[in-house]
Amino acid sequence: MTRRAPIFLAIDCDDLDIAKSWVKATQESVCGFKLGLEFFAAFGGEGVRQIADLTDAELFLDLKLHDIPNTVAGATRAVAVLKPRFLTVHSSGGSAMVAAAAIAGPDINIAAVTILTSLTSKDLSDIGFESSPLDSAVRLAQLAVSAGARAIVCSPLEIASIRTAVGADISIITPGVRPTSSGSDDQQRTMDPKSAISAGADYLVIGRPITSAWTDGFDALRARAATIAAELI
Ligand code: C5P
Repeated sequence: MTRRAPIFLAIDCDDLDIAKSWVKATQESVCGFKLGLEFFAAFGGEGVRQIADLTDAELFLDLKLHDIPNTVAGATRAVAVLKPRFLTVHSSGGSAMVAAAAIAGPDINIAAVTILTSLTSKDLSDIGFESSPLDSAVRLAQLAVSAGARAIVCSPLEIASIRTAVGADISIITPGVRPTSSGSDDQQRTMDPKSAISAGADYLVIGRPITSAWTDGFDALRARAATIAAELI
């Protein structure tokens, strides 16, 4: 059996049939699939089930929950039946909210998002954060792990500091990864896959560098996924 690379393929797609084709074409190369807010808003739990039925790879539900603890607990219980390996919540929802998710989904790894990579230092200062993006991300990662999060989602450039802060047992997942052969799209602070793993990431989230091959068809997508996975295994 082929070894799968520690990559969650981002299924950012508004057509369920195309999403299923992406899963079929890449599942031999990647360890799992990340289904985000756009996918969940369009296709709901039924869409997630249809993806799960196609593959034994893992699911990462990137819903970035952020609400009062009782509501986040209810949402976590509602998606627990889909058996995701990871479910994202915002650390900035506070300790009680992260803990509520961890208690409501004991079989799910709650993955805490620290500072969105789309926010600049000025954005952070505008919303009242006094520290730098890196210091804020480290502080929020520590808060989330103390509250029961088992994984942290962060930018590739924050991996080393967050690894030092949270220790070896916590999974670090990073988007913003770009193979040297591809462009950066709208991602600003990128790292190539091998460097991100060397810096301490456990899993990478990669979307367009792989899925853009779909314009050339199923076999091209399968080949692209295999080539990028081969950099890591
Ligand atoms: O296509 P690309 O590789 O840029 O996709 C990256 C995926 O990771 C997208 O689904 C994006 O929403 C997600 N993501 C990100 N940056 C974050 C958090 C999530 O790019 N800070």
